[in-house]
Amino acid sequence: MKFFADTSDLDAIKDLADCGMLDGVTTNPSIIAKSGKEFIPLIKEITEICDGPVSAEVASTDFETMMKEGEKLTGLADNIAVKVPLTEAGLKVCKNLSSNGTMVNVTLCFSPLQALLAAKAGASFISPFVGRLDDIGQEGMSLISEVLTIYENYPDFHTEVLVASVRHPQHILESALLGADVVTCPPSVIKQMYNHPLTDKGLEGFVKDWAKTGQSIL
Ligand code: G3P
Repeated sequence: MKFFADTSDLDAIKDLADCGMLDGVTTNPSIIAKSGKEFIPLIKEITEICDGPVSAEVASTDFETMMKEGEKLTGLADNIAVKVPLTEAGLKVCKNLSSNGTMVNVTLCFSPLQALLAAKAGASFISPFVGRLDDIGQEGMSLISEVLTIYENYPDFHTEVLVASVRHPQHILESALLGADVVTCPPSVIKQMYNHPLTDKGLEGFVKDWAKTGQSIL
């Protein structure tokens, strides 16, 4: 399972890369706005840190402008995945860019039928948003299960299921159990996965007992 960082925080991205926990990065207009930085240089910098796919989202909603934005973003680095919204125009952009060999991440997916359309349009990644479905009282993970079933039924589809809008480690556990290809989440959620109270307690005991031996390994 691949871990993508859903952030534009360069320090957090480097930190995950150093621990071997970074397979890609996803951004969206809200993440970029929060960073307060210039979009294009920021994305370029991320592509230099991260070897895997870096999703950069178009800002327009009409086909012609999204195509121009997508082509500009593609030119920034070989590992750019152009992120487009799951609209009719967005999927038309997806079809055009992906047939030229560009990676496309189709975002804002909230239904299995939308995911079916994205696969037919040649998306490299589909991003179903689990947290935002949970927020409105629906079962976000059921969407992942349905999308995976559909994609498995049609081996000609090569779209990877990228679980997005991940809020907590349980989303990651359930994604892994279902066999989702990728999760994208804030770095803090990956950090939470290291934690277990018995690990802390056990380590405390080992440190104390080792001190009693009076020895040093070095
Ligand atoms: O980047 C897409 C997605 O991960 C956004 O998550 O937390 O804004 O619903 P969130």
